[in-house]
Amino acid sequence: MALSHLQITPDFLRAVRDAVDIVAIASDHTRLRKAGRRWSGLCPLHREKTPSFSVDPEQGLFYCFGCGAGGDGIRLHMALSGDDFPAAVEALARRFGVPIPAAGPARRPRGEEGPDLEPVLSAAQEFFRGELGRSELARSYLARRRVPAELVARFGLGYAPDGWRNLLGALAPRFPVADLLAAGLVARPEGGGEPYDRFRHRLVFPIRDAAGRLVGFGGRALGDDKAKYLNTAETARFHKSALLYGLDQAKRPAREGGRLVLVEGYFDLLAVAAAGEPAVVASMGTALTPEQVRLLARWAEEVVVAYDGDSAGAAAAERALPLLLAERLTVRRARLPAGQDPDSLRLAAGEEALAALLAEAPDFVLLELERLVPADAHRQPHLQARAAAAVTALLTPIPDTVLRYGYGRLAADRLRVPAELLWGRLGVDREGLKPAPSAPRREVGSLDEEVLWLLLRPGGEGLELGELPAPEVFFDAPCRNIYAVYRALYERDGAPPALGEVLAAVAAAGPEVDRLARLLLEREDSPGSTGPMGRLRESLDKLNRRWQKQRLRELATEIHEAARQGDPARLDALLGERDRLNRSLHSLQPPNQGTGSA
Ligand code: UTP
Ligand code: MN
Repeated sequence: MALSHLQITPDFLRAVRDAVDIVAIASDHTRLRKAGRRWSGLCPLHREKTPSFSVDPEQGLFYCFGCGAGGDGIRLHMALSGDDFPAAVEALARRFGVPIPAAGPARRPRGEEGPDLEPVLSAAQEFFRGELGRSELARSYLARRRVPAELVARFGLGYAPDGWRNLLGALAPRFPVADLLAAGLVARPEGGGEPYDRFRHRLVFPIRDAAGRLVGFGGRALGDDKAKYLNTAETARFHKSALLYGLDQAKRPAREGGRLVLVEGYFDLLAVAAAGEPAVVASMGTALTPEQVRLLARWAEEVVVAYDGDSAGAAAAERALPLLLAERLTVRRARLPAGQDPDSLRLAAGEEALAALLAEAPDFVLLELERLVPADAHRQPHLQARAAAAVTALLTPIPDTVLRYGYGRLAADRLRVPAELLWGRLGVDREGLKPAPSAPRREVGSLDEEVLWLLLRPGGEGLELGELPAPEVFFDAPCRNIYAVYRALYERDGAPPALGEVLAAVAAAGPEVDRLARLLLEREDSPGSTGPMGRLRESLDKLNRRWQKQRLRELATEIHEAARQGDPARLDALLGERDRLNRSLHSLQPPNQGTGSA
C-alpha cells in the first residue's frame, strides 16, 4: 500500500496507460499461458483451481470469468497491491519508465471536495496515540480488556482526552479550523459558537479504507457518555456504508486463506485477531450494505459471520445472508453462545475456544434451512407451504444453479416434498443443470452488450454523434452507464472517444469497469456479413425499437391513468406521443440497412 502526492495530468495518465504492460503486471502474481492473442491463467484476485483469468495485451484489459473483476492495467495493479489510484499511476510510471512530472500543488483525491484531509487526519492520529501513552486510565482500560500491546500498535489505537478543546488546541496552530471541521474531528455547536472536539474521553480506533488511507475514527466511551461508540460523521472521505473496519490489514491474509471473518464491533475484531485470525473485518454495527459485501467478495470466497449471540446479531446476520450469497460467497455462521460476542467469549472462554468456534462454523444456508423448515412441518400442510415459500426466498439469490439445486434437494428432503415441486420456483430446470455453454451469455444484456461492443471495440467507431440514441434505450444499467459516458465524451470532444478514455471515465464505478472488460474480452471478432457499421446500425435500430415498444406499454398505463383522473392536457400529450411512437415503429420496419452516409 502506498499513497502518492503526485499531480496526475491527462497527458501523464495517457502516457502511463500506453506504457503499461498488463501481461507483465499479471505475471508477477500468476503464471499466464498464451492462448491465441490473449493470455490466460489462474486468477490472482481470487482462489480458483481452473483458469478463468484472461488478459488481452492489445486492448490492455483483463477480465476474470470466475470472480467478475476486470479493467485495465492500472486497475489490476490497484487490486493486487492495494494502492489507491494516484499511487498506482505513480508506481506504474516508475516501473514502465514514464517520466514523472515535477510535483505540483498537493493532489486532491478524486471524488473529494474541499481541503486534502490526509495531513490533518494523520496529525490527529499522532495526537491520539501520544495521549494514550500519557493516559494511565486509558491504558488500564485496554489492559482490563486484555488487548495485546502488539494489536494496540498494529491498529494504531489512541486516546482522546477528556475536555472540549484538547485536539483543537494541539492542531489549531498547524491547521485551519476549517480543515478540522471538514475532517469531522471537531464540531460547532448548533446555534453557532466556538468549535469543540468531537471525541472526548474516548478510546480511539483509526479507520482506514481498503487501500489503507486514513478516513476517520471510531471512539469508545470510557466514561458514562450515553453513546457507547461515536464515529466520524460522514465527510468527503468517510462513508461508513462503504467501509469495513480492518480491511486494509485483513485483505492479504484473506486472499491467502480465501476467507474472511465478519464481526460487528471493534473489540470483536481485536478478539478474533488475538485468537490468531488476522483475516477479520468489522461492519461497525450497522446493517451490512451491498457496497461492503462487494468489498468482502473482492478479497475472499468464504465469509464466516461471527455476529453477536443476541437477537439483534441474529437478525443482522439473516439480513446479510442473501447479499453475501448473491455475491457468490460461501457463507458460514459462527454460533456465539447466547449473550456473548467474540470479544466477551474470548475473555470468558479463551482464545482457543474462540478459534474453535470460528473453525467449526457451520454452513449458514443449512442452518437457515433447519430454522425455516420446522422438523414437523410435513405433518401440517400449511406449515409446509409456508416453509417452502421461505426456502424459495432463501435460495433464489444464489446465482449458481448447481448450488441452488444442491440446497434445494436438501430442503425438499426436509420438507418431505418431491424435489420437482421446488425446481420451478428455484429456476432449476433440466436445461439449467446441463453444463453451461463455454461462453454463457445472458439474454437480458445481450442486445445492450452487442451495441456497446460494436461501438467500443478497436475500429468500431464511426457513427455520427447525431446517430447516437439517448442512454435510456439501454435496459441494462451498467451498459447504460458506460454508454452515457461514451456519449458524453463524444459530445465533449467532438470525436468518438478511445476505449482507454471511456475506461478511465468509468473507472470510479466498479460494476461498469468489470462489465466493460468482460464484454471486450468475451466476444469473438466476427462482425458478420453486413460489416461492422451495418451491424452496429441494425443493433442500434433493434435497441431503439425495443425501447419504443417498452415505452408504448408504459404509455398504455399512463393513458389509462390520465383518463381516469380526467386530465385532458396530459391525456392529449400522451396520445400524441403514442401516435409518434407508433408511426416511427412502423415506418422503420424493415430496418434501414446501410443507408450509405457516414
Ligand atoms: P455493540 O453495541 O455490540 O458494542 O456494537 P461492542 O462492540 O460489544 O462494544 P463493547 O465490547 O461494549 O466495547 C457493535 C459495534 O457497533 C458500532 C461499533 O463499531 C461497535 O463496535 N456501534 C455501536 C456504533 O458505531 N455506535 C454505537 O452507538 C454502538
Ligand atoms: Mn463487546
